[in-house]
Amino acid sequence: MSHNQQLQEIMAYNLLKGKKGIIFGALDANSIAWKTAERVHEEGGEFVLTNAPIAMRMGQINELAEKTNSEIIPADATNEEDLKNLVEKSMEILGGKLDFVLHSIGMSVNVRKGRHYTDENYSFTEKGWDVSALSFHKVMQSLYKAEAMNQWGSIVALTYMAAQRTFPDYNDMADNKAYLESVARSFGYFFGKEHKVRVNTISQSPTPTTAGQGVKGFDGFINYAEKMSPLGNATADDCANYTVSLFSDLTKKVTMQNLFHDGGFSNTGVSQEVIDEFSK
Ligand SMILES: NC(=O)c1ccc[n+]([C@@H]2O[C@H](COP(=O)([O-])OP(=O)(O)OC[C@H]3O[C@@H](n4cnc5c(N)ncnc54)[C@H](O)[C@@H]3O)[C@@H](O)[C@H]2O)c1
Repeated sequence: MSHNQQLQEIMAYNLLKGKKGIIFGALDANSIAWKTAERVHEEGGEFVLTNAPIAMRMGQINELAEKTNSEIIPADATNEEDLKNLVEKSMEILGGKLDFVLHSIGMSVNVRKGRHYTDENYSFTEKGWDVSALSFHKVMQSLYKAEAMNQWGSIVALTYMAAQRTFPDYNDMADNKAYLESVARSFGYFFGKEHKVRVNTISQSPTPTTAGQGVKGFDGFINYAEKMSPLGNATADDCANYTVSLFSDLTKKVTMQNLFHDGGFSNTGVSQEVIDEFSK
């Protein structure tokens, strides 16, 4: 058994035993959703994996499904019919209502096509907003209408601090994340009142994934964040652990929050390492 496996064994607390859910956004082994699926499985949770039909064709998600004993239902998170089908089928497969949902989806067409923030193509902007931000509302509305969530269930989406502070190369994703975080608060109110379900966003450190690396100058950016954060950057594995805690019964009264998971970056003005860099 490798050291890592040993650590994982020690770290399984059965926190999600008997809980069922849906995990969006596992593209490959670097994806935050992939790591989360592995951790949720280790903690005893059962789930359906989903991604856009186009992402399925790359085939890697089958490996994760096998490893975690889960089924895959393709769904474009911008398509209401797909989401309705996903929610219905997931409840059939899992044999009941859901306890957790992870929204781990993001994509900017302007970023992909190299369009600067001051030169947006607005049809690209609308598409990116639909995929990255409005999709969270669509996912929650589908769950809400189907009465698919159990009481004390937990819904989490991933975000980035560019929603609060400007990072020049984050482009229109900054605006999408601000919208996403607002949807978490607004829907969190109704989900809390009506169904005792919590809704939160995790604001994660820069992480080397397909979506992360799409941001221009990502390497400089991630190194800077590492030097600025007293605890260092939070990795995808760290994020998976944090998400497990938010899916568990240990965080029942945490809702409508944007939770910074960034090694302290967001509250650091400057670090000694960065001062030293500029004193040379
Ligand atoms: N990587 C980072 O630096 C970082 C930092 C903070 C927050 N986040 C957020 O974490 C989340 C997950 O991203 P990641 O870094 O794991 O990258 P990733 O590229 O592995 O995941 C993004 C996922 O979104 C899916 N997706 C795209 N369009 C979709 C659609 N129409 N319907 C359904 N799914 C669709 C992709 O197939 C992919 O699985 C995103 O919300 C991202 O913005 C990432």
